[in-house]
Amino acid sequence: MNDPLAAKTIVLGVTGGIAAYKSVELLRLMRGAGARVRVVMTRSATRFVGPTTFEALSGEPVWLDMFESRPEAAMRHIDWAQQSDAVVVAPATANILGKLAGGIADDPLSTLLLAATCPVMLCPAMNTHMFCHPSVARNLARLEADGHCILAPDSGDLACGTVGAGRLPDPAVIFDRVLALLAAKDYRGRRILVTAGPTREPLDPVRFLSNPSSGRMGFAVARAAEHRGAAVTLVSGPSDLSDPVNVATVRVTTAAEMAEAVWRLAAAADIVVKTAAVSDYRPAVVAPQKIKKGAADATLALVRNPDILKELGRRKNPGQILVGFAAETENVDQYAAVKLKEKHLDLIVANRIGIPGAGFEAETNIVSLFYRDGRREDLESMPKGDLAHLLLDRIGGLSPGA
Ligand code: CTP
Repeated sequence: MNDPLAAKTIVLGVTGGIAAYKSVELLRLMRGAGARVRVVMTRSATRFVGPTTFEALSGEPVWLDMFESRPEAAMRHIDWAQQSDAVVVAPATANILGKLAGGIADDPLSTLLLAATCPVMLCPAMNTHMFCHPSVARNLARLEADGHCILAPDSGDLACGTVGAGRLPDPAVIFDRVLALLAAKDYRGRRILVTAGPTREPLDPVRFLSNPSSGRMGFAVARAAEHRGAAVTLVSGPSDLSDPVNVATVRVTTAAEMAEAVWRLAAAADIVVKTAAVSDYRPAVVAPQKIKKGAADATLALVRNPDILKELGRRKNPGQILVGFAAETENVDQYAAVKLKEKHLDLIVANRIGIPGAGFEAETNIVSLFYRDGRREDLESMPKGDLAHLLLDRIGGLSPGA
């Protein structure tokens, strides 16, 4: 399951805008996720990026000319449209939006778009005055009403020197939306609260207690749940990762702040997934100024932080599903079983810290799942994105317990 787009065929339409260079990276991301990608370029797109680049990276001929002499080209607009799981137009100029909104088919891309019955995602990018022109706004509204997915452009400095809406989002964001476009929406109508990352407990203005959690596991669960249609809230301790698209993200620093946010948000959640590596203790005193070294050794007094998950287990709504994580260096099974019971969890995801390919900072994880009904499942090493989807598959099949 390493390739989320394995067995998918995607048409990438590239039209003539300065942002066309970003679609090269988008192509790489989609290919890297296992998709077959066929590129259709408009003539003006070729003035910005050469078709050879797309040809080399897609491993397929780029379609440029409606009336190519090759026999297989004759029905390509129908064949490529029908064989695709999605069509993504990035960047989409005012011109292609106008053509599609008006039903005009006068080149390979506009013709293929009319023949497509799969989901179509349009990523407008242009000068901000063009983007705000009433005719473009009207066309976008029409295209949305026709059932196409429109990815709103970013705002900021544009290549043409203006400032405002019109910039093509980063390829990683477009790729994320392609994954969302193609995901089964089995979590539609469900509300998920996810916690992620470490917490930091300040000792003085320049020092804190923490752990190396990167937040990757929790962010992956939040992203996967959003792709599958859930309404997702993410409470994260300090992490370098950017907020997942379309996920309400609350950034906190300390365990006390995380507890406050979780208790405020948990009652509205059908499912709570607590991947956060919460500090169990905090310094008893936070020095207002930097602590200076003395001649003698020092001892740090610590006080207990709230156990957020345990408290959630105590307050659990009927019908709510609680999922915990347990990172252990020894006796994984025994400790996981105790936490499952003591915190009233439906599922606990346990892993051994300190083995290669698992744990805090790794891209992959190797875990065992322990269920409330006593079942246990040992999983192979897998990327955290895949594990997130597998966990959602398993959580989807759980019925909540008291
Ligand atoms: N957890 C929590 N609040 C805490 C500590 C842990 O909500 N103060 C949650 C974690 O998010 C995780 C689960 O409890 O889902 C287990 O965390 P872990 O650190 O493995 O275990 P602890 O319960 O803290 O026990 P110990 O540190 O003794 O192993």
